[in-house]
Amino acid sequence: MAISNYLVRRMTESDVDEVMAIEQQAFTLPWSKQSYLGELRNQFATYLVCDREAQLVGYVGIWVVFEEAHITNVAVDPKWRGQGLGRVLMEEAEKIARQKKALRILLEVRPSNYVALALYESMGYMETGRRPAYYTDNCEDAIIMTKLLF
Ligand SMILES: CC(C)(COP(=O)(O)OP(=O)(O)OC[C@H]1O[C@@H](n2cnc3c(N)ncnc32)[C@H](O)[C@@H]1OP(=O)(O)O)[C@@H](O)C(=O)NCCC(=O)NCCS
Repeated sequence: MAISNYLVRRMTESDVDEVMAIEQQAFTLPWSKQSYLGELRNQFATYLVCDREAQLVGYVGIWVVFEEAHITNVAVDPKWRGQGLGRVLMEEAEKIARQKKALRILLEVRPSNYVALALYESMGYMETGRRPAYYTDNCEDAIIMTKLLF
C-alpha cells in the first residue's frame, strides 16, 4: 500500500516527550528520556521522526560507526501501525547508513516479535546470530539480523 502525507525529519529535544509516549507503549524495556536526550548529542547517532497530520507517529534511530550501522530503536504509535510507516522509517535509516558509507546494518529483535521480523526479512535482513537471554525482562534471546549494503 502506498502511503502519503507524512514527513520524515531529524528528531529534536522538543520531540522527546512525544517519543517517550510511544516508547512506553512499544517496549517492555523502554529507554528513558535521558537516554534519548543523550543520544541526540551522540555524534555517531541519527534519530528520525515521522509526522503525520501534525502528530509525531513514529521514530527510528541508527548508529553508524565506520563501516557498520546499527538500528537502535524503531517504533510506530499503535494507532498508526500497519500503514507502512515502520517500513518508511527503516528505509530512511538505511539511506542514512548508505550516505555515511556503511557496508552493513545490524539490529536485534526478539524471536517473539513476528511483526518486526516480517518487516526486517522483507527488507533483506537475515539472521546472522543470537545473543542468549539478552532481554532482561523474560530472558528471551535476541536474534541478530544483518543487511549487507553492497
Ligand atoms: C515493528 C513496527 C515498527 C512496524 O511498524 P508498522 O508501521 O506497523 O509497519 P508497516 O505497516 O510498515 O509494515 C511493515 C511490515 O511489517 C509486517 N507487519 C506489519 N504489521 C503486521 C501484522 N499485524 N502482522 C504481521 N506482520 C505485520 C509486514 O511484513 C509489513 O509489510 P507488508 O505491509 O508489506 O506486509 C511496529 O509494529 C512497532 O512499533 N512495534 C513495537 C516496537 C517494536 O517492536 N519495534 C521493533 C523492535 S526490534
